[in-house]
Amino acid sequence: MRRIIPLNRDWGYKESFDENDILGNDKEFSKVQLPHANKTTPYNCFDEKMYQFVSAYRKNFKVDHKAGERVFIDFEGVMTYAKVYINGHYLGDHKGGYTPFSFDMTDYLQEENVLTVMVDSTERNDIPPFGFTIDYLCYGGIYREVNLRVVDENHIDNVFVKPRVGETNGLELEVFIKGQAEMIEVCIFDEAEIARKTFNLGEKISFDDLAVSLWEIDAPKLYEASVNLIKDNQVIDTYSTRFGFRSCEFKTSGFYLNGKKIKIRGLNRHQAFPYVGYAMPKRAQKKDADILKYDLGLNLVRTSHYPQSRHFLDRCDEIGLLVFEEIPGWQHIGDKAWQDVAVENVREMIERDWNHPSIILWGTRINESMDNHDFYKSTHELAKSLDDTRQTGGVRCIENSELIEDVYTMNDFNLNDVNKPLRYQREVTGLDREVPYLVTEYNGHMYPTKRFDSEERMVEHCKRHLLVQNDMMLQDNISGAIGWCAFDYNTHFQFGSGDRICYHGVMDMFRIPKFASYVYKSQADHDYVLEPVTLWARGEKGEFEGKSFLPLTVLSNCEKISVTVKDETKFFYPKSQTYKGLSHAPFEVKDFETIQDWGSGWQDGIFKGYVNDQVVVEKSFSAAPIAHDLEVSLDDVVLESGDYDVTRMLVKVVDQSGNILPYINESVDVHVIGVGQIIGPKRLNLIGGCIGAWIKTNGQAGSIEISVESDRFENKNLSIQVK
Ligand code: GAL
Repeated sequence: MRRIIPLNRDWGYKESFDENDILGNDKEFSKVQLPHANKTTPYNCFDEKMYQFVSAYRKNFKVDHKAGERVFIDFEGVMTYAKVYINGHYLGDHKGGYTPFSFDMTDYLQEENVLTVMVDSTERNDIPPFGFTIDYLCYGGIYREVNLRVVDENHIDNVFVKPRVGETNGLELEVFIKGQAEMIEVCIFDEAEIARKTFNLGEKISFDDLAVSLWEIDAPKLYEASVNLIKDNQVIDTYSTRFGFRSCEFKTSGFYLNGKKIKIRGLNRHQAFPYVGYAMPKRAQKKDADILKYDLGLNLVRTSHYPQSRHFLDRCDEIGLLVFEEIPGWQHIGDKAWQDVAVENVREMIERDWNHPSIILWGTRINESMDNHDFYKSTHELAKSLDDTRQTGGVRCIENSELIEDVYTMNDFNLNDVNKPLRYQREVTGLDREVPYLVTEYNGHMYPTKRFDSEERMVEHCKRHLLVQNDMMLQDNISGAIGWCAFDYNTHFQFGSGDRICYHGVMDMFRIPKFASYVYKSQADHDYVLEPVTLWARGEKGEFEGKSFLPLTVLSNCEKISVTVKDETKFFYPKSQTYKGLSHAPFEVKDFETIQDWGSGWQDGIFKGYVNDQVVVEKSFSAAPIAHDLEVSLDDVVLESGDYDVTRMLVKVVDQSGNILPYINESVDVHVIGVGQIIGPKRLNLIGGCIGAWIKTNGQAGSIEISVESDRFENKNLSIQVK
């Protein structure tokens, strides 16, 4: 029977490669764990050439297998070009860092095996997204997991579960087989089995009238299909996959999930993290999905600009976060051979991901490239031939672009005209009819904002996100809008703030919120949100009508808010007239008498949010904040042994009211003992009063003790159990 054996521990790694490395001496190799970044990068201000080199990876392993079984090596992601050797025999190569690939090693296996991978992490002109400049870094190394797969020589290669949702619910299944068999048995599971049928090979595999719950954003019910391959009356292989019952369709009138219209409120995500770039394991990938859904209140993420980790997508399935996934690329289209790789990327992406209910749209264009009829006809048609259940889009930034895909997906950077944050769709498409239409980027480079920028800039940053969200809600033929972007990211020197960071996120690289993140969170109803967009400092803003702290924007999903300064309490209501589209318009605090002009007494401020006249959330600000405490928190205090695991630590200095002090720039030292270590530097400098870091396990069970030391505060001690 099928066995999947993770092969992520104790690889050899060397920062160069020559033919002798294919079988040569192990001594030159250092020990590393996968996912692995070929180079650890600093937080910013580094030369992106530092990880662009060719390296060698080496793994010694044994594997039991019987006659009649095949042993495959499955790579989930190697950046960017790989050549794979087993026991000195060349198995083949793979172009492209974002999609999986496999080789059958069986004929060359021995008792003890040496697997060698040459990894070329240079920006090769023959592989998307490279060939011109791109606004992000792609890093290097074997940065996703590797597995051994032992299967019968007759086995299941892939399964595509196609749910049918309507008056009755059912499904069809496509089963892809390597070799020979006679029958296929399919079992559908909830917690228990809900259906089971046997089919002859070649017979249509279909189930009707299933009593199932649909996969919804707020109730993302998942099922499992388990497929048995039968030969000589024996089950010789079993392939299981998760899926959900849902329908999805972009129409001219918007996007529909299970027949219900949903306005898409999304952000773009790059899969990069500080120090290790793309090489983050499961828990960090899943956490990002949670952040997007729960901390940002989004209903969709675009995996800009490439297929992302399966763990991330799995989590999107589990929590009900819609996904728009696209092939790798950025503005540039290469020659025919380059385009062939891009077409192959379409196949690899779809065949890997077609069972994720969260994915509702395939992106079959190179992000923001020019029209190219033949190329995009072939990517679109391939997508449709592989998957007739989903529509395609292709992200462009040009008007009057040829619509080959099902959905006109447009990066609309129009916000300099504040009266018209988004263009009308016909103005963009140039068509004489409405088509399914989705805005896939806005803001970003038009208004980069750091988490430690001045209050005025942060207010404007929020306003720009509010205006677009409002406008997309008001335009019925816009399915939704996906902002640029969720998290700041390291980038090439041609972009960003000169320090190799694009500060385009509504959160920073550590996923610490900027005020603009509350624009999104306040539109959702998961939690009560009350976020005054202020540093509550008298001299932070210029004078305005004699009152230096007014007007003040408050982002909240409450019905009304009160603000108390000294003895004066005033109530405010959402600016629903200005923001007619938003379910929760922002508040504007003004006309406050207590604090008059510059130089008069400065006071504490108390904000309260009300629903049904009850206070549901409260926030206060100190007039005279001082560094009161060093707060250190962990996202998880229990991790898993085995392949290495990670969790995020946040360190902040807060004042007496618990607010981060934005201009404190002190450093802390982190000491980690036990079965783990910190990723990146051990001395952390607060950036805007706060910093993050990831703690990783070394694979063993036990405990990790963390001590955070600073000059001003007592040491903070935390511990993590690794089970
Ligand atoms: C877009 C591009 C994104 C990012 C963004 C910055 O043109 O698609 O990848 O660079 O600009 O605003």
